[in-house]
Amino acid sequence: MKELKHLNKYFKKYWLKLFLGIIITIVARLFQLIMPSYVNKSISVVERFLNAEIAKTEAQDLLLQFILIIVGAALLSGFFTFLMRQTIINISRYIEYDLKNEIFDHYQKLSLNFYKKNRTGDLMNRISEDVNEVRMYAGPAIMYGIQTLTLFAFLIPLMFIKAPTLAAYTLLPLPILSVLIYQISKVIHKRSTIVQQYLSTLSTFTQEVFSGVSVIKAYALEPQTNEDLTCLANEGKNKSISLAKVNAWFFPLMILLIGISNILVIYIGGKQYLAGEISVGLIAEFILYVNMLTWPVAIVGWLTSIVQRAAASQERINEFLREASELDNTPTHKHDIKGKIEFKNVGFTYEDTNITALTDLSFTINTGETTAIIGKTGSGKSTILDLVARLYDTTSGEILIDDEPIKHIDLTDLRESIGAVPQDAFLFSDSIRNNIKFGKENATEEEIIAIAKDAVVHENIMGFSKKYDTVLGERGITLSGGQKQRVSIARALIKKPQIYLFDDCLSAVDTETEEEILSNLKKASKNKTTLIVSHRVSSAKNADKILVLEDGRLIQQGTHDELNITDGYYKELYTKQLSEKEN
Ligand SMILES: Nc1ncnc2c1ncn2[C@@H]1O[C@H](COP(=O)(O)OP(=O)(O)OP(=O)(O)O)[C@@H](O)[C@H]1O
Ligand SMILES: [Mg+2]
Repeated sequence: MKELKHLNKYFKKYWLKLFLGIIITIVARLFQLIMPSYVNKSISVVERFLNAEIAKTEAQDLLLQFILIIVGAALLSGFFTFLMRQTIINISRYIEYDLKNEIFDHYQKLSLNFYKKNRTGDLMNRISEDVNEVRMYAGPAIMYGIQTLTLFAFLIPLMFIKAPTLAAYTLLPLPILSVLIYQISKVIHKRSTIVQQYLSTLSTFTQEVFSGVSVIKAYALEPQTNEDLTCLANEGKNKSISLAKVNAWFFPLMILLIGISNILVIYIGGKQYLAGEISVGLIAEFILYVNMLTWPVAIVGWLTSIVQRAAASQERINEFLREASELDNTPTHKHDIKGKIEFKNVGFTYEDTNITALTDLSFTINTGETTAIIGKTGSGKSTILDLVARLYDTTSGEILIDDEPIKHIDLTDLRESIGAVPQDAFLFSDSIRNNIKFGKENATEEEIIAIAKDAVVHENIMGFSKKYDTVLGERGITLSGGQKQRVSIARALIKKPQIYLFDDCLSAVDTETEEEILSNLKKASKNKTTLIVSHRVSSAKNADKILVLEDGRLIQQGTHDELNITDGYYKELYTKQLSEKEN
């Protein structure tokens, strides 16, 4: 329960609405309570008329009066019930909205390590399913809770005042009903969670099949996939049936217990009537009371399980909300980034895999210089770029930006002054224009086209029938590897940052295009610090400095000419790639 305290700040925020909602709920129930006693009075009028105690016209007048009161009370109760839902359920929707925003904001602050530790499905579930469970508490549970409390507070004393013995007998089965409903709700919840989990397994499975459909077809795995699906579906069917079985108990049980209460009213009431203790009208009044009480009583059990579930969900949500970003962002002062980068004995080990990607790495890149990083696959090139963008903090050593420790620089400032093209460029399922504009929100059409020309992708884009409006991704076209790389280069260029990080972003273009892009990049990145990771010497040879990595260590550094006269990895690679080109 204490986990749900997290929501108190939201209740405070909406306290006026909530207060109004509570008043409205109480008023709605009070109007409902008026009706049964007028039914009783109406029956007495009929009785008195039959016993010739009153005249027909007088009876008719009285009946009309009572009926109008009953109808009026019903209408008012209905109207206030409507208002009750309008206020309290709306509050729960506001809280749901606020909570989702709070979680999402928090997610975005968390480091990449958090995303590696937790599965996407889990992240999605907490922001959708769990928030929904919590909403059930903030809305329906509170609404029905107040409603039930009001009814109990007024109705039970009223019944005991009117006929104590009858009240005691008729109320007897109701606590049993409450306990039973609670037990059933618990089982229903347990089984529906299992069904829910199964559904998410099924959707993960099908999603993977659809996105990997070309591999499945190429390997002729359709029959096997079918079999897997049938197996999963069968399991799901059994789970759903087991849920349906408990669900089937819910209403019959309620109806049975209401029936027992009604029979008790008629039996005990009948005996008391024969003994001359109560009137027929009072029996009718009590039958109405019993029917009014059964739903709230049943709901006590249901509410208990809603609150328990909400507490469990809120606990899961709080678990993520308590998670602090590993990258602390406490800048010491405002800082205009110029672009000097210095690595001082930097070592880095990936937390999850314990792989040491970089060891004792030291180098300096002056503002405006272009540096190329070359090395075998897995040698730690991408890791260097990730550290410059401070996606991770170094395990040992220090990185300085403009001679200032990177941790002293505001994270947003740092990342705003970096234009990165990651190795596996990710494009959003949106138009090409918006994908490029992602780097600069207010870019003009001319800017976009000029930049696309620099990235040598303009011609390709003009070749699509919808040009810059061409939608990418699932609902749109699939770009070739090289086109994708060039669109993401355009995205980085349009940002005009102080530091460029290009991670193997020309690997999928032919050498001619590569040369064209490189010469454009040279112009665009004039006076900007540029880091180019590549497997090709052609991308690296014009750099001011080349770093050669092996197993996370710097084994050579210098200019192309310097490295080319010393024996080593670079010279070997150059000779090999040169002869490949000539052949
Ligand atoms: N996100 C990660 N989590 C755990 N280990 C990682 C992660 N990324 C890289 N590694 C490991 O760190 C080492 C260095 O990887 P890195 O991606 O920096 O190499 P690279 O030089 O960029 O290779 P490539 O040329 O293939 O892109 C590798 O052994 C890799 O398995
Ligand atoms: Mg890499």
